[in-house]
Amino acid sequence: MKNKKYYYTLFILTVALIFATTSCKQNKTQNDTELVISEESQKEETLYRPNFHFTPKANWMNDPNGMFYLNGKYHLYFQYYPDGNVWGPMHWGHAISKDMVTWEEQPIALYPDDLGYIFSGSAVVDKNNTSGFGKDGVTPVIAIFTYHNMEGEKAGKIDFQSQAIAYSLDEGMTWAKYEENPVIPNPGIKDFRDPKVVWDETINKWIMSLAAGNKIMFYSSPNLKDWTFESEFGENLGAHGGVWECPDLFPIQVDGSDKIKWVLIVSINPGGPNGGSATQYFVGDFDGTRFILDEGFSGQLQDKNAVWLDYGRDNYAGVTWSNIPKSDGRRLFIGWMSNWDYARDVPTFKWRSSMTTARELKLKKNEYGFNLQSLPVNELFSYASKNIQKDSINSNEIEGLLNKSDINFAKLNLRFKLKDLKKEKYSLLFFNKVGDTLSLGLNNLENEFFINRQNSGEVDFSEKFASKISKVKASKNLQELKVQIVLDKTSVEVFYNEGETVMTELFFPKQPLEMFSIISNDETFSIENLNIQEFKFK
Ligand code: FRU
Repeated sequence: MKNKKYYYTLFILTVALIFATTSCKQNKTQNDTELVISEESQKEETLYRPNFHFTPKANWMNDPNGMFYLNGKYHLYFQYYPDGNVWGPMHWGHAISKDMVTWEEQPIALYPDDLGYIFSGSAVVDKNNTSGFGKDGVTPVIAIFTYHNMEGEKAGKIDFQSQAIAYSLDEGMTWAKYEENPVIPNPGIKDFRDPKVVWDETINKWIMSLAAGNKIMFYSSPNLKDWTFESEFGENLGAHGGVWECPDLFPIQVDGSDKIKWVLIVSINPGGPNGGSATQYFVGDFDGTRFILDEGFSGQLQDKNAVWLDYGRDNYAGVTWSNIPKSDGRRLFIGWMSNWDYARDVPTFKWRSSMTTARELKLKKNEYGFNLQSLPVNELFSYASKNIQKDSINSNEIEGLLNKSDINFAKLNLRFKLKDLKKEKYSLLFFNKVGDTLSLGLNNLENEFFINRQNSGEVDFSEKFASKISKVKASKNLQELKVQIVLDKTSVEVFYNEGETVMTELFFPKQPLEMFSIISNDETFSIENLNIQEFKFK
């Protein structure tokens, strides 16, 4: 019996051949041209449309916005330009999921108007109707977003960004903008955007964190309409290689204790640890007015300058869901899986960009202070359809193992002992027959984790895409290494030691990556435990 993958590969080769013959013809008729376009876009769908990462059906997407949970549904809005495949006048697109894995795109939620484009922001479920928008017992959902006034920007003004609200009385399907927008006019700050709002139950007020150039400003409000400036944070802390964007301030229980800490996520563009845009975080306390950095965490910052949520190049502008029920209790996150360095150049044309896998964030205390760990949400694993489980397997047995199976890699878990590891490089390779290779793993000479996509297929669309190998220092004194890898057609998300260190990166192979092996000069190297799950999606 021929395996599925064989057909899959054959199909792509066939399409490529048809395309090659058709495109050789001179004097194309319109029908020919349409045929070429549709074959090209079919190839793009097959080869690059992710299996399970959210992408819009067509056109440009960037940041996740306004995520909230209500009545069994996770809502995801996103920066969207419906008329082109590069950034343009921003709308909020919308998608809904029951499990944060399978998404259904919805009609556009918010359109630009006279006040400006609709930039990033958040949404909250106003259970107590503090805003007064609720009618006849219907709970309102409030979106809080930035208006970006293009005419103002073009005219060289600096006050072209302001904060505004809209409300929905049908669980986020349709929205009415507030007549008295903006709710926070611009105070004379050029970059003044991306409001993220949380209910602070200690002081019974809404707290907004807002990116303002090189710092975060906090505002409070009893009703989401009237806002008071409280304090600011971060001018001299963390990374400042670029402008601060998309903050998220939230309380979180320290894992394994009943203590509550507050985490402040801040995206920055450029200035990320491996180039371009990335997301850093801070751990501290919020006293209703100010965010006060935790002492231990401040020590971590002195060592490292900045601490990053993800050290790969493709996780940006991520924030967390609001209104997750207390009975669930998770802090759930999703990011934009791209980088402003090359987002508009990636070789997909029908749509541009996808989101990361939805992740659960946990705050763990360790010997250094605090670590914000992330792992894919458990819901993803309910799609597992095939399971390969091996104990104590030598690295040279791996290749055969997977070549014979028809696994369409989706999740791999590996565990190995580190204390006997040599000063060598341990690389996991994903590759195909045409020579595209994605490699990642541990460089034990430098004590670094790495992802190398320099030979992963299409890389020339931007000079910045594969100019460097991404790296991050591994924590010292590791006894054991657990690696969880989530693989889709064009992305890899690597979670080391329960998400203590995360790396997310894109790649665009010329054919699907179908083979897997482990390369090292250490011949005695063996994997204590290997588990591979294939996911099935309809
Ligand atoms: C982050 C960002 C936000 C802004 C949005 C515009 O990627 O620059 O600061 O609101 O994108 O699309």
